[in-house]
Amino acid sequence: MHVFVTGGTGTIGTAVLAELLGSGHTVLALARSDASARTLSDAGVEVVRGGLVDLDVLRAGAERSDGVISLAFGRDYATADALAASIAEEGAAMSVLGETLVGSDRPLVTVSGTPWIPGRASTEADPLQTEGPVAGRARSVTALLELASRGVRSSAVRMPRTVHDEGRGGFAGLLTDAARRSGVAGYPGDGTQRWPAVHARDAAVLFRLALESAPAGTAWHAVADEGDAVQDIAAVIGRRLGLPVQSVPEETFGPFGPIFAMDQPASGAHTRAALGWQPTHPSLLEDLEALRP
Ligand SMILES: NC(=O)c1ccc[n+]([C@@H]2O[C@H](COP(=O)([O-])OP(=O)(O)OC[C@H]3O[C@@H](n4cnc5c(N)ncnc54)[C@H](OP(=O)(O)O)[C@@H]3O)[C@@H](O)[C@H]2O)c1
Repeated sequence: MHVFVTGGTGTIGTAVLAELLGSGHTVLALARSDASARTLSDAGVEVVRGGLVDLDVLRAGAERSDGVISLAFGRDYATADALAASIAEEGAAMSVLGETLVGSDRPLVTVSGTPWIPGRASTEADPLQTEGPVAGRARSVTALLELASRGVRSSAVRMPRTVHDEGRGGFAGLLTDAARRSGVAGYPGDGTQRWPAVHARDAAVLFRLALESAPAGTAWHAVADEGDAVQDIAAVIGRRLGLPVQSVPEETFGPFGPIFAMDQPASGAHTRAALGWQPTHPSLLEDLEALRP
């Protein structure tokens, strides 16, 4: 397939491009800067210049492709307003990508997050949360999956809280950033809350499997580790960076504070059984050993 990919320079996108090219697909990738365009053409893909706000560029990219993978999302999580702006931008972009593919039966794979269910690991059958700071993303994904009834083979690959590579990325990466800034490997609450995780290269395989074969309107869990206690994640970060490990106020983590404090394990059992997905790369706690002071 010739696949239009947004977010191809990110932690997940880089792995997705390599997985697609390694499996015989070709890629048209969105680049919003000269640096990103260079990175993408060095990776061996065709580049189209533009950002998520350039809806005509997105429409043209989707029209030219046999399928789309939507990964781009703004990196500014510092304030609630910045997060809301990124959610609105992503939602408008996904809506244009979806409408472009209506009636084509072509695949549109988008990224989502695993839901949290009190007291147990969430599964692929659980609905996404429609409250909280990232509820707008859930609404965009739900609207996209509903395009299944209008001739789009839409699917969502739900990410656990941390998608990592070489110890970087995701919520654990934000804990590391905060530790480097503050001199303390901090975690909110008592640290027994669990976060699930996956290696970016394992997640990339699941994006390819969803692109190739997921039925319309389905959601999948890219979960390799069902849930590590956050105090265990912080302990490795602190040891690798030579910093003390301790509980810190939720507010330290800005708009993510309340989410960081929650227990949110997730299961990928159905995904493994139905799509034949098998993670093979290091777990989060193993991968964090790659951190350097
Ligand atoms: N990593 C995780 O643990 C995790 C967990 C759950 C969900 N997710 C989601 O998975 C997706 C990919 O994650 P990631 O970790 O790979 O992200 P990332 O490393 O932060 O990369 C973000 C990607 O989006 C692009 N991008 C951002 N804003 C854009 C805009 N306005 N226009 C065009 N491109 C834009 C970036 O391009 P530039 O390189 O040009 O900046 C980059 O390619 C995101 O939607 C993220 O929210 C990630």
